Amino acid sequence: MATKLTWFGHSCWFIESDGTRLIIDPYMADSPTCMMRPEDVKVDYVLVTHGHSDHCSDAESIAKRCDAMLVGVFELTQWFAKRGVKKTLPMNIGGHVEYVWGSLRMVPAVHSSTMPDGSDGGIASGFVISFHDGHRIYHAGDTAFFGDMAYINRSGIDIALLPIGGRYTMGPYDALDALRLLKPRRAMPMHYGTWEMIHQDPQAWADHVHRQTDVEVSIIQPGEMFTLV
Ligand code: NI
Ligand code: MN
Repeated sequence: MATKLTWFGHSCWFIESDGTRLIIDPYMADSPTCMMRPEDVKVDYVLVTHGHSDHCSDAESIAKRCDAMLVGVFELTQWFAKRGVKKTLPMNIGGHVEYVWGSLRMVPAVHSSTMPDGSDGGIASGFVISFHDGHRIYHAGDTAFFGDMAYINRSGIDIALLPIGGRYTMGPYDALDALRLLKPRRAMPMHYGTWEMIHQDPQAWADHVHRQTDVEVSIIQPGEMFTLV
């Protein structure tokens, strides 16, 4: 079975595996690099790593229209529930939830989290998504490099989705060190190029990673799909 990942630009990913559809950090209508309209997305789950608007500006509308389950840190899901999102799955760091299609683990991220209206968003997080076909994806959210990334890969990671933009998150140099700890089979860069402030050369980063680690880097453009077999 195949797991398909489509990058909608920034940190927004659409993932489909054996009929289960998830979107992570939906930032679409306001994103300068997203070509897809949030109205055209059909998903079962909406995962949000933290409350900054460049990670959740379309979460409410997608969750409501699709009657999808919105997953995030407790304070964040409470905020969406108050705004009328019916199905929420509150978690917290270290938590693990099993589903028929696989499981979700919420892992630390070193970052802040405020909701778009200034409310407390709890703390920022990342997700490890495991599908029953064996594919495991780590979405780092927005984060600095931190040493405990070494423990995120206790069961193996097929793909690590990592921010490389710098300024608000780790940049390319720290993302390379992150890969030394995470040891995924493959990495895909995100959270760069959306605005001038986080401009990076992903190919230069991939070249560094290939010279210094065994990790395979795949670079795709917003709107492109990658199939994990
Ligand atoms: Ni952020
Ligand atoms: Mn961000």
